[in-house]
Amino acid sequence: MNTLSRLPNMLYGGDYYPEQWDKNDWEKDIELLKKANINFVRLNIFSWALNQKDEITYNFEWLDEVIELLDRHGIWFGLGTGTAAHPAWMAKKYPDILRVEFDGKKRKFGGRHNSCPNSPTYRRFAKQLVRKLAQRYKNHPSLILWNISNEFGGACYCENCEKAFRVWLRRKYKTLDHLNRAWNTMFWGHLFYDWDEIVAPNLLSEHFGENQTMFQGISLDYARFNSDSMLECYLLEYEEIKKEMPETIVTTNIMGAYKPLDYFKWAKHMDVIGWDNYPSIDTPVSYTAMMHDLMRGLKDGQPFLLMEQTPSQQNWQPYNSLKRPGVMRLWSYQAVARGSDSVLFFQMKRSRGACEKFHGAVIDHVGHDRTRVFKEVMELGTELKQMGNTLLGATVPSKVAIVFDWENWWAVEYSSGPSIALKYIDEVHKYYRALFKQNIQADFIHTETDLKQYEVVIAPVLYMLKKGYAQKIEEFVRNGGVFITTFLSGIVDENDLVVLGGYPGELRPILGIWSEEIDALPPERKNTIEMKKEIGLSQKTYSCNLLFDLIHSEGAEVIAEYGEDFYKGMPAVTRNKFYHGEAWYIATSPEDQFLEELLMFICAEKGIQPLIEKVEGVEVSKRVKNGYAYLFLLNHNAHEVVVPIGKMEARDIITGRTVAEQINLPRYGVAILEYSET
Ligand code: GLA
Ligand code: ZN
Repeated sequence: MNTLSRLPNMLYGGDYYPEQWDKNDWEKDIELLKKANINFVRLNIFSWALNQKDEITYNFEWLDEVIELLDRHGIWFGLGTGTAAHPAWMAKKYPDILRVEFDGKKRKFGGRHNSCPNSPTYRRFAKQLVRKLAQRYKNHPSLILWNISNEFGGACYCENCEKAFRVWLRRKYKTLDHLNRAWNTMFWGHLFYDWDEIVAPNLLSEHFGENQTMFQGISLDYARFNSDSMLECYLLEYEEIKKEMPETIVTTNIMGAYKPLDYFKWAKHMDVIGWDNYPSIDTPVSYTAMMHDLMRGLKDGQPFLLMEQTPSQQNWQPYNSLKRPGVMRLWSYQAVARGSDSVLFFQMKRSRGACEKFHGAVIDHVGHDRTRVFKEVMELGTELKQMGNTLLGATVPSKVAIVFDWENWWAVEYSSGPSIALKYIDEVHKYYRALFKQNIQADFIHTETDLKQYEVVIAPVLYMLKKGYAQKIEEFVRNGGVFITTFLSGIVDENDLVVLGGYPGELRPILGIWSEEIDALPPERKNTIEMKKEIGLSQKTYSCNLLFDLIHSEGAEVIAEYGEDFYKGMPAVTRNKFYHGEAWYIATSPEDQFLEELLMFICAEKGIQPLIEKVEGVEVSKRVKNGYAYLFLLNHNAHEVVVPIGKMEARDIITGRTVAEQINLPRYGVAILEYSET
C-alpha cells in the first residue's frame, strides 16, 4: 500500500499542458476542469525546452503560476520531470544526445523520447533539471506524485551505447572466455579476442529484421542492456527527487506489455505502477483486462494507477474511433476493477497543432462544457467522488497465477524457428482469456515470485528456464500445487543455449515426458486433440494448431492424443502426478473451448470456483478491503443483460441500492457490489 491509497478520493484527472495555451486561458480551463470533478492534473511532461533556454538559465515561473491557480481551485498535481523530449538547442550543441536508430541512422532533432540513454550530456542535464525542480517544489502540499520522463522506450545503437554495452558485458561475464561460451561464438566464426571487437547488434551487424537475429545471445544481452540503460536514466532522476523528498511517490508512465523494457525489473524501483491504456475499438476486452492484471502483477498485486487513457479517441491508431457513449465510463471501471486506484486521462485540453490535434480531451476545441465527452467525464467524476476512498488500496485476490517473463519473451521471438507465427503474448493471452471468460481471477507473476500463495500456476511457452526456476516449480508441485506448461518449454537457459539431454530439459522429471521433436505448421493447418481420459470435457475432439511437440510419456498420464498426421496417437496433453501435486503439459496450441474447459476442470479440482456464473460479454472482477468484497460487473455488450448473482445480498456502491439474486445491467452498464466477507 502506498500513500496514494490514503487519499480521501480516487485521483481523477490527467495531463494538462497549460504551456500550449495563452496564459489568459488558464483560469477558465481550470474552472472547467473543476466543473468536470477533476481533482488532479499531471503537469510539465514535455516542458524541458520551456524550462531551460540554455545551459544555465532555468525558468519555472510559469509553472509556479499554474500551480498557484490549481491550488486556488483545490486541484492536486503531479509533476513530470520533462526529460522525455530534449530541447533543440541541446541537440544542436551536443549531438551525442541524439539517438542512432536500429538501421544505423543518426537522428537529428525532432519528435520525442529521442535521447540516447547513455549520453553523458543527456544524463548530466537531466539530473540538473530534476534537482532544480525537486528543490523548488519539494514543500508543496498538493504535489501528489512525480512522473519521470514519459513512456521510456525504443533503443539506441550509437557509439556511446556500444561502449556502455561493453562495460555492461564485462560486468556480467568478467572474462571474454565466459562471454564466448555464453554466446556460442564458435558458431559462424564469432570468437572475440578483445572486448572492443563487440558491436551493437542491429541491421548493420547481426540483425536482418527487428526480431531476426543471427546471434540470439548477443541480441538478448543487448535487449537487457537497453532496458537497463533506460532504467539507469530513470534512477538518476529518481534519486535526485528522493534526495529532496524521501517520502514522495515517484513513478513513470509505462505501457502495458511493452516489449523492449523488462518492467518486472523496473517495478522494483517504482513507488507505484502507472500505465497508459489505449485499446482500440476492436481490442478484445480480455486483452485490456490482461494488461491491467499484468500491471498489477508488476508490484506483486499492489494497486496501480491508470495514468492515461483517452476520454474519447486517439490520433495515432489507423482508425481513431470514438468511445461510444458509456464506454469511457465502462473502461475506466474496468481499470478500477482490476486494481487501479485512479482514473486519469490524456488529456485535459485538446491541442491546437501538431500530431495530437485530433486526440480526444476533456475540453474540446470548442472550448466549453456542452459536449458529450465533457458531460460523460463530469458524470463519472460525480460517481467517483461519492465513493470517496472506499476502493483505494483494495486488492484483487487470486489463487491462479500466470508466469510472465520479458526475457523469455525476447528469447522466444528472437529464435530462428520453429515458427514465425508464434507470439508469446498471444499464447499468454489464450490462457488468460480462458480463465477470464470463466470469471476466474488470475495474477501475473514473475520468476522471482513465491509460488506458495497459489494453487495453480500456468507458464505458457516457458522456453527459457532461468537458473533455479525448475527447482522452484518442483517444490511447488511437490507440495501440492498444479503446474501447467506448454509446448516449447524448458528448452534453453538464460543465454539461449539449449539444455542438452532431451526437451523439456530440467522440467522433464516434473512433467514426466520427453519431447522428441517439434512440428510447426502454417497456422491455418490444424490437427486434433482426441480425449483419452474422461475428465468431464464436453467434446471428444478439439482442434489445435501452430506447434506440435511430439512427446513420449515417461510416467505421465496421457489425457489426450493427436488425432492426425504421422504422430497420430502420440500424447497431446499429459498430466503427471508428482508427490502431492501434478504437472500438465499441453503439447500444442489448442482451440479456446478446450482450454476453457480444461482450466475449469483443473481449477474445480483445486476448489477454485468462478466468481459468478458466466454471462456472455459480462466481465467480472473482485477487489477486497477491510473484510469487504467489491464485485465488479461490467457489461461490455451493447444491449441490456440480466446477471444472476446467486444467493448474495449486496449494495451497489454506485447507486447505493441493495440488490439480491440478480441485477439488470444496461448496455455498457456497471455495478460494484459490496458485501461483507466475514
Ligand atoms: C502516450 C503519451 C502521451 C500522448 C498519448 C496519446 O500515452 O504518453 O504523451 O502522446 O500517448 O495517446
Ligand atoms: Zn546511444
